[in-house]
Amino acid sequence: MPIADHIRLAQVVLPCPDLAASLRFFTAELGFKVNLIQPADSPSLAVVSGHGVTLRLEAKAGSAGEWPLVLRLLCDREALPPGTPSEMIAPGGTRIELVDAHPPMTLPEGRQEFVLTRMAGASAWGEGRAGMQYRDLIPSRLGGRFVASHIRIPDGGPVPDYVHFHKIRFQMIYCRKGWTRLVYEDQGEPFLLQAGDCVLQPPEIRHRVLEASPGLEVIEIGCPAVHETIADHIMQLPTPHLLPERRFAGQRFARHVAASARWEPWRLPGFEARDTGIGAATEGLAGVQVVRPAGAPASAGIAATAATKGHAGEFLMLFVLDGALDLRSAAFGDHRLDSGDSCVLPSGLPYALRGEAGLEMLEVTLPAELPLAGL
Ligand SMILES: [Fe+2]
Repeated sequence: MPIADHIRLAQVVLPCPDLAASLRFFTAELGFKVNLIQPADSPSLAVVSGHGVTLRLEAKAGSAGEWPLVLRLLCDREALPPGTPSEMIAPGGTRIELVDAHPPMTLPEGRQEFVLTRMAGASAWGEGRAGMQYRDLIPSRLGGRFVASHIRIPDGGPVPDYVHFHKIRFQMIYCRKGWTRLVYEDQGEPFLLQAGDCVLQPPEIRHRVLEASPGLEVIEIGCPAVHETIADHIMQLPTPHLLPERRFAGQRFARHVAASARWEPWRLPGFEARDTGIGAATEGLAGVQVVRPAGAPASAGIAATAATKGHAGEFLMLFVLDGALDLRSAAFGDHRLDSGDSCVLPSGLPYALRGEAGLEMLEVTLPAELPLAGL
């Protein structure tokens, strides 16, 4: 039985018009465990297992009876005999899908565009994974290449999270307000990520959010935009090992603590920055800095202006943490960004920045050393 030899898992597909309700029902009422959820900010797919069966809950309109019964067989696709179909119909009409058990991460080519997102009212917040509220900072997702979320947990307390990992190329979390207690694979005991602190989550590192203060706010930026969040029900955290230099797909875990950070000149004059160490931890893939006018903190009269011909990198995002930033560009207009506003600046277009005393902004770039646009 050549096909049978390569099947690793079978999933029954259940269409769910209200995925959140279905997920609650299967986990809280029936005791199923979450294996995978995607995307984290507004789930449209969840895989749960329990009692000897695995269910793939897909957000789809209509009742289950309107959809054919589908059994998904997860296989080593490359090992299947040549010509094996990707779909079969069983006697009786059940559709059988043969899919890859471990599909490679897909990285959309993406596109460069100017994105300005304002800190809006309560309507901007949506319900995400594990009781967190999400605000989408790049609704266009730049063609699927990047996702940026402003995440908050208003009430605080224990977080209903589980040990999990993400299939990603890049992912960082910056704590804007409050604190959260986190634990990472091979990185020691749980620790507090406090306001101003930042972590790099290397690809597939197991981690868990344990607890949050009331009013916790974090900024999370990831690539690609859609990626799987996969539960690991076997690993216990913390692990008994402390391996800070361990590489995960070429990256090591990085934790930046604001309280012990040093301020140094930024790449544009007039400003200074504290580097989070993410450039070094990713071997140059991505850089994350907190930037303010040089000579701060927040002395009256200090302001900074800088003009640039633009960048030739893959990604440049600014999030105003505090104060105000004036952005001027003949290409994408003049804009004043206040606390909570953010923008993505496309490559190849000149712009100028003016930061007033009290400005503090988060800058995330790919690569870490942002190349400048040609003259
Ligand atoms: Fe996570």
